[in-house]
Amino acid sequence: MSANADLLERRVEAISRGVSFITDFFAEKAENSEIWDVEGRRFIDFGSGIGVCNTGHRHPKVMAAIEAQIAAFTHTCHQVTPYKGYVELAEKLNQHVPGAWQKKTAFVSTGAEAVENAIKIARAYTGRTGLIATSGGFHGRTFMGMSLTGKVVPYKAGFGPMMNDVFHVPFPNKVHGVSVADSLTALKALFKTDIEAHHIAALIFEPTQGEGGFYVAPQDWVEQIRALCDDYGIVMIADEVQSGFGRTGKFFAMEHYGIEADITISAKGLGGGMPISAVTGKAAIMDAPNPGGLGGTYAGHAVAVAAANAVCEIMADPTFHDRTTALGEKLRTLLENLRSEIPQIADVRGQGLMVAVEFMENGQPRADMVSSIMSYAKERGLILLSCGVYGNCIRFLPPLTIQDEVFDEALDIIAEAIKQAV
Ligand SMILES: Cc1ncc(COP(=O)(O)O)c(C=O)c1O
Repeated sequence: MSANADLLERRVEAISRGVSFITDFFAEKAENSEIWDVEGRRFIDFGSGIGVCNTGHRHPKVMAAIEAQIAAFTHTCHQVTPYKGYVELAEKLNQHVPGAWQKKTAFVSTGAEAVENAIKIARAYTGRTGLIATSGGFHGRTFMGMSLTGKVVPYKAGFGPMMNDVFHVPFPNKVHGVSVADSLTALKALFKTDIEAHHIAALIFEPTQGEGGFYVAPQDWVEQIRALCDDYGIVMIADEVQSGFGRTGKFFAMEHYGIEADITISAKGLGGGMPISAVTGKAAIMDAPNPGGLGGTYAGHAVAVAAANAVCEIMADPTFHDRTTALGEKLRTLLENLRSEIPQIADVRGQGLMVAVEFMENGQPRADMVSSIMSYAKERGLILLSCGVYGNCIRFLPPLTIQDEVFDEALDIIAEAIKQAV
């Protein structure tokens, strides 16, 4: 039996089936945009551990920061004996998160945990309970995370009841016939049929939906929800767990809009491969919870903080983001050019290197094409991820540091994979 087959058998035997997996090979080592499996096969990584390794696997500066931190200490718990790196990282986030007002930050470990804390902070600040999220949105697998998530299977099915006072409105989505007006009409109807606007603590959304299908929020929708939040004193939360940290060619996707959320959530790319997440927002909002109301044993773990400080330094260079934009344009051009040959390509979208292609035929999603593309690509040594409520989109999330020649190699495989799937 091969090493992968053996591990696969043991995996099925030992691990809950609730923890699903996409590839059937096991990682042994990784470097920048490439992963090698336990049988020595090389794969180009267009998933980055679901948008985490934006600075690539084992970026030298991230590794040096981790090694220096490990040599000093690994854990004291910031709430017991604080450390400088945590303070420095908070200062960096306060600087980079959009908003020209005084900001404060709190660190936790995962995206879902940051979502939980953003909601706690918004409720403490407003003294209200109601929450608005969007259909197709994804905010994690904790109870509040899955309650806010706008997709039932697999995230909520069997886990109910969900948290109280969570309401969903349609996310504008041209491909599936939801206009900005439809979304805003539903939002206003909510205030008539379900909950008074003055009982809403927060509205949470992703500037570009991640798991939901890489749908980019239209400018006028973001403008109008900002105005609505201002009118009713609702805390606007931008969940930038997937869209943040350089993924869209800017530090944060909200920079594309010139609009500022009251609270911004970061995770994934922030840690350069280490588990860390952040909640950053207006100082008065962030200071609403009582001392001790936020945090956690591992919140802002020293080693992850060291890695994140290195990531911030890498991304402080504007040319880093220019390159992301250029690579994203190259990928989108390839996909757009394929449209004349492949009528099932219903849409090509995204910002920077947060790009997706959606497959439909006669108004029906073609999830089967996505499966075929992913398995063909895997056989040719390329890891791809799907997304979308109907599973009919491929999302492209390569490391932003991917080498030009590896990127071109992957683009050739993508073109072949799409052509063979028709
Ligand atoms: C937008 C968004 N929010 C929250 C999460 C949850 O993050 P985590 O899986 O680290 O809990 C994710 C994860 O994919 C995400 O994409």
